[in-house]
Amino acid sequence: MIILGIETSCDETAASVVKDGRIVMSNIIASSAQIFEEYGGVVPEIASRKHVEYILMVIDQAIKKAGIKKEELDAIAVTQGPGLVGALLVGITAAKALAAALDIPLIPVNHLKGHIAANYITHKDLKPPFVCLLVSGGHTNILNVNNYDDIQNIGSTRDDAVGEAYDKVGRVMGLVYPGGPKIDKMAIEGNPEAILFPRTKFKDNPFDFSFSGLKTAVINYIHSKEQKNEEYSKKDVAASFQKAVTDVLVENVFLTKSEKIVVAGGVAANQGLRKALYERADKEKVQVYFPDIHLCTDNAAMIGSAAYYIKEEDFDINADPSLEM
Ligand code: KG4
Ligand code: ZN
Repeated sequence: MIILGIETSCDETAASVVKDGRIVMSNIIASSAQIFEEYGGVVPEIASRKHVEYILMVIDQAIKKAGIKKEELDAIAVTQGPGLVGALLVGITAAKALAAALDIPLIPVNHLKGHIAANYITHKDLKPPFVCLLVSGGHTNILNVNNYDDIQNIGSTRDDAVGEAYDKVGRVMGLVYPGGPKIDKMAIEGNPEAILFPRTKFKDNPFDFSFSGLKTAVINYIHSKEQKNEEYSKKDVAASFQKAVTDVLVENVFLTKSEKIVVAGGVAANQGLRKALYERADKEKVQVYFPDIHLCTDNAAMIGSAAYYIKEEDFDINADPSLEM
């Protein structure tokens, strides 16, 4: 089954041709991230306009690069949500038009299920059940993935998503958007024990997260140093912040006692998180899976993969900015 995936939930315009849920025949991404560097974050109206500008070109390229004719497609998959409503609408409109013209099914895909599916592409034998640690710019969850389309949320952030906390700390450190990958790089050269930043835990649900207190503590530390004109090491701040984040992520996901942990979302690219999870997994004989780095952040291959396992078609979908799992 050959599916064309389309993803436009945020600032990446992406299309990909995926065979049988696991084989990526093409994976095209036009990113507007650079445009948002000067704004310090995504401006929804500009993101939508950029999607309109790129979408047809990206779809054409994905089909061409896959070496197929569009008539060979069996279905079109598109991100329905969560995401920016105007951005989602561009992908959905293009997907509907193409599905109607080719008279093939349209499969709506939850963006978060897409992030999980990035792992099915990287690990060809990976199958549910497993526990998923989903860490992106908009979400931080621990999920029981009972089956491809049977997913239960057992823990969530009560405030900032982990990627959001990275980007906000990055902004205060003077790093251009998105700060996450830059902090990750700086952290390698810093001392993770230099500053003790807070770790938040909840007694009523040990799987829940909170990153806003940590974010505020880091920002206060930087402001206080700057006000007093005191020197401080940005690398140590990056490393100590990253250690506080990864400590909590690792701790909470291991509380599930699952023997199979799958990480998904943009922050799955984080080197500190990868190292910390692999080390703990090694000790406790747990299997840990991460997507290939290039499949961690938003892409359409993950949408084409997820659709293969969902298969429920619906031509009358609308964008759903806060679509639930
Ligand atoms: O999954 P994603 O591409 O978009 C959403 O669905 O939100 O995630 C983007 C987020 C951004 O906050 C970005 O800073 C973060 O993932 N990110 C990272 C790294 N790479 C991307 N955060 C920490 N370390 C990284 N290496
Ligand atoms: Zn995403």
